[in-house]
Amino acid sequence: MTDPAGAGALPAEGLPATRVLDEIRALRAADRPTHGGRLFAYVYDPGVAGLDELAQAAYAQSAHVNGLDPTAFPSLLAMENALVAAAARLLGGGPGTSAPDVVGSVTGGGTESLLLAVKAARDARPDLAEPRIVVPASAHAAFAKAAHYLRVALDRVPVDPVTLRPTVDAMAAAIRPETVLVVASAPSYAHGVVDPVAGIAAAAADAGVRCHVDACFGGWALPWLRRLGAPVPAFDFAVDGVTSISVDLHKYAYAPKGVSVLLHRDAACRAPQFFAYADWPGYTMVNPVIASTRSGGPIAAAYATLRHLGEDGYLRLAASTRDAVAGLADAVRATDGLRLMAEPESTVVCFTADDPELDLFVLLDELTARGWHTQPQLRYADLPASVHLTVTAAVAPRVAEFSPALADAVAAARAAGPVALPPELTALAGGLDPEALTPELVAGLAEGLGLGGGAGAPDRMAVVNTLLDAAPAPVRERLLAEVVGLLQRPAW
Ligand SMILES: Cc1ncc(COP(=O)(O)O)c(C=O)c1O
Repeated sequence: MTDPAGAGALPAEGLPATRVLDEIRALRAADRPTHGGRLFAYVYDPGVAGLDELAQAAYAQSAHVNGLDPTAFPSLLAMENALVAAAARLLGGGPGTSAPDVVGSVTGGGTESLLLAVKAARDARPDLAEPRIVVPASAHAAFAKAAHYLRVALDRVPVDPVTLRPTVDAMAAAIRPETVLVVASAPSYAHGVVDPVAGIAAAAADAGVRCHVDACFGGWALPWLRRLGAPVPAFDFAVDGVTSISVDLHKYAYAPKGVSVLLHRDAACRAPQFFAYADWPGYTMVNPVIASTRSGGPIAAAYATLRHLGEDGYLRLAASTRDAVAGLADAVRATDGLRLMAEPESTVVCFTADDPELDLFVLLDELTARGWHTQPQLRYADLPASVHLTVTAAVAPRVAEFSPALADAVAAARAAGPVALPPELTALAGGLDPEALTPELVAGLAEGLGLGGGAGAPDRMAVVNTLLDAAPAPVRERLLAEVVGLLQRPAW
């Protein structure tokens, strides 16, 4: 993409539209496949013909509308309010429920929703100099980000290595006088298990503390699975003590990226989420969410997606997803040396390897080589490394192909044998001081491992994953942040 006359994206003379689109198409060819049910992370594909075209047309109609001022663009306000009502209804709120006064905001994604839930909780307690939040160790990393950005202390409660959930007692014991928010996941991203929301919310309520349910991942899947007969525990506003819930529409509502909903039990709970500022010479800025100028595109696309699919559509998609989860889990169960981390109770299949001769990271590479893109999860506390599959409706027609591919990949991984890092390298990774990792050192290491060249990750990642697996979290963070820094360089 270099251009001697201009710089990067900006040519000296503008290019024809068809050429520009060709360029993007060529760039996209290197990406993982967003459609087709073979990528088990990052994307949510319903496999519904015509839905993309509808969402794109809706996106285009509202792309230049600005969510900065709802009075200037009532179309956006109407669509946001409709999305909030739909999410609230699905999650136990609205007229005739035990949470009749529920309100909400549309945000740009799950992380933004969680940041705002933490901000609302923090700013509801201006009397506390050092606010804290209590989260299960399995809670999404976005809570750590929120704590970091908002200068709130993070109290992490370990999860049981078998149930992969925190106990209610441990969560209750972690609540202190400075605690402003207690968190439960429905379900957790890593393992797809639902925390004991009722007990956690009750403990929070007893202490007079807010309770946020992070249903970013599962909030648009669990209610349909329940309607189909799955034993989904209560996790929404029907549970006393739940004060806010986040649900991402760009996950299981199958909307294009950039849209999540943050719900609060009532307007008083939501009030401290807002930011208003009039003390400057420009317009009075009133922002319910973090972004100020916001494109109407993602909101209109989500609105169109919900209107088109409807309850019947989501039920059908949930049934396909449920069947796909069952089929993938069966494939794992049937494989010697693999073990499910948890019996699937939502839309995640997560497994580990119990056999030292079967290297999970080599297996992952072998699956990639066969066109199945899974996500590695490094070892954490007393949990082993694992492979994560986010399962969506588009996977259902692929399940029959997955079983033989898995068997084949396992045979290849066994034949290749485990990654054998020199013991001194493993020891080095385990004992590294993150501060000692200079950008130059990481650049040299990344070069040696085939990373950092700007062409994305190499095909085989087992060595890199093994090294990272041996390193403590601060070293992993530092190493990968430096690598991303190397990747993010101007394309002169
Ligand atoms: C449970 C949970 N919470 C929050 C998030 C963050 O969402 P986003 O990536 O949209 O910021 C995710 C993303 O996977 C998630 O699974």
